[in-house]
Amino acid sequence: MPAERLGKEAVVRGFLTKITSISKDLCFAGIHRGTLKQEFQVVCHGTALCEQLRSIRLHSAVRVKGKLVQKRKQNDAEPREPNTRKNVVHHRTVEVVAAEILCLNSVADDVHISKDHNYPPQSRHLQIRFDESLKRRLHIRSRVASYIREQLIGSFLEIETPILFKSSPEGAREFLVPTRKPGYAYALPQSPQQYKQILMAAGVERYFQFAKCFRDEDLRAIRQPEFTQLDVEIAYADGGVVMRRIEALIKGIYAKFVQPRGLLEKSLPDSPFIRMTYEEAMSKHGSDKPDLRIKGLIHRIDNVIPDELRGMLTSIEDPIIEVCKLRFDCEPERVQAFMRKLMDSPDAEPFISNVDGAPGFCVYDSRKPVEGLQTFGFEGAEKLKALYSDLRHPGYQSEEVHAINSTFEDGDLLIIQARQNLPHSGGSTILGKLRLAIHKAAVADGLIKPDPDHHYLWVTEFPMFTPNNDTDPGQGGTSGFSATHHPFTAPLSPEDVDLLLTDPLKAKADHYDLVVNGVELGGGSRRIHSAEMQKFVMRDIIKMSEERMNDFSHLFEALRSGCPPHAGLAIGFDRLIAVMTGVESVKDVIFFPKNSKGEDVMVKSPAPMTNAELSRYHLQLKSPVRTEEAGEKGETSSEEKVEEMKPEPPSRA
Ligand code: AMO
Repeated sequence: MPAERLGKEAVVRGFLTKITSISKDLCFAGIHRGTLKQEFQVVCHGTALCEQLRSIRLHSAVRVKGKLVQKRKQNDAEPREPNTRKNVVHHRTVEVVAAEILCLNSVADDVHISKDHNYPPQSRHLQIRFDESLKRRLHIRSRVASYIREQLIGSFLEIETPILFKSSPEGAREFLVPTRKPGYAYALPQSPQQYKQILMAAGVERYFQFAKCFRDEDLRAIRQPEFTQLDVEIAYADGGVVMRRIEALIKGIYAKFVQPRGLLEKSLPDSPFIRMTYEEAMSKHGSDKPDLRIKGLIHRIDNVIPDELRGMLTSIEDPIIEVCKLRFDCEPERVQAFMRKLMDSPDAEPFISNVDGAPGFCVYDSRKPVEGLQTFGFEGAEKLKALYSDLRHPGYQSEEVHAINSTFEDGDLLIIQARQNLPHSGGSTILGKLRLAIHKAAVADGLIKPDPDHHYLWVTEFPMFTPNNDTDPGQGGTSGFSATHHPFTAPLSPEDVDLLLTDPLKAKADHYDLVVNGVELGGGSRRIHSAEMQKFVMRDIIKMSEERMNDFSHLFEALRSGCPPHAGLAIGFDRLIAVMTGVESVKDVIFFPKNSKGEDVMVKSPAPMTNAELSRYHLQLKSPVRTEEAGEKGETSSEEKVEEMKPEPPSRA
């Protein structure tokens, strides 16, 4: 605060957080201003004022009027000289000598209030008030949003698109909002995708928005039914322009908020983020969201394994057999014991009962016969070692990756898994999931050193379409597949346009995802900007009905009006803040999150509806609503933890 305020009248408002009585007529009070670490000291002289202060219940809202002075040091007769740097004094070096104290609103007698209490989600306001690390994350969230606005405003236009939208089959399940017009409903937007493309036709060349998005999907640590995207679109641009702009923004955010706050040991490298194709991500990491902290890559070993072992691993005819080697920081016996425990745990059940065959394991141990690789037989073990020493890895891989994927050391764990000989599709392979689960458990048990860095990369060249599964609504076409990103994504090249007619599942899309440490942080694409092409993809390839196509007639009209080529992307803003601040769940960076059942247990939403209320919307319940008391503990539920191990289905918008 400006130094000239010293010696003048001052008013402090905030929560009364502590009272220290020195004597009957001298006490000190701490007043918390709500913002981080903004505790103000107040001094009270005189019996009456001290008594009044002591009568106020701690944590009540108060107002103190008095004089702002420099704090005295213990035993100082006079206040210290103000230590003014650039004519500014820090709030911790000053205090207010109270002349008047007013309790603005006392904490009710039956409210249990203490800064040391662990409040449940039902008391979110007190969690936010007293949990310093939660408060710090929420403050960083606000600052990062301001920084992003500062960086974009000027060249981009900030726009608010409607929240009351309409149902249209983009990919994720929607929330509907019934209206009083019989049979009519709005839908909440899965993302502002269609509006932002229409804005390109409207002549907005560079758009951004902090967009509220709504998706009625299974919830996990990194998924909320209501979340925020930093949504961006650029006219006359291709994916490269978007990726470079976003990369610069992320690096700027890290330089301003992550490194200076010590949230990360090392800064992000200056070099551009790695770009990896979907095919490489799936075959080398078993995931379209590679976690580059895991250094052991996946390799095909069809040619080195003996037939006998193949038969033991799987009953698939002509399978693909893959291996992944993880390097542990301990002796082989501990790795064996760790694996026995892990595979006996319920978490291992989906891997053991995998229809393609259970995984095989061996631990390299130079003291043992065939160095612990007897599963492969003598000849197979030699071939396996030769295969590793001959492997060539892309130049962007670190020395550690080269070392782990070319040499063998005692304690190296080999995980062997069979899969169907089919092209990759979806978000992960079973070996990819197992590799991740073993690595996570080994880091938690202290057997693999954690890598504290944030490894960003772009995953590109996704398949344009993904075969449908039972859980995703997709775009509701009859082709048996849906757009992997969303149906507005352009084919990657002219060859991919040709493939649309001959073999659409082989066509690649100009779709890019931003990934960090195994988390999909953002997704975007170059768009189809020709109405005819857009209709062709929806009608002739995805095979959507005319009725569903009509849901997009506004978009076709916008594209028909000379809409420029354009590309964009959306970053999951909650996920970005969670990654930056080192928490696993986006609930820890959202002021009012929903629990794993999609409920806000503080306000008790969603709330049951009666037929009387529904009749206003011309709706009726089929059977009475069964109400149950919502209950939740603050931590991640075991249900959520199991969910995290499953691949993320491609519900996108
Ligand atoms: P996409 O569906 O990939 O793309 O979403 C973009 C990013 O939003 C975040 N995200 C979520 N965050 C929290 N809870 C959720 N339920 C949730 N779902 C998604 C992820 C994801 O990468 N319209 C396109 C973007 C575009 O093409 O420009 C879209 O929404 O971090």
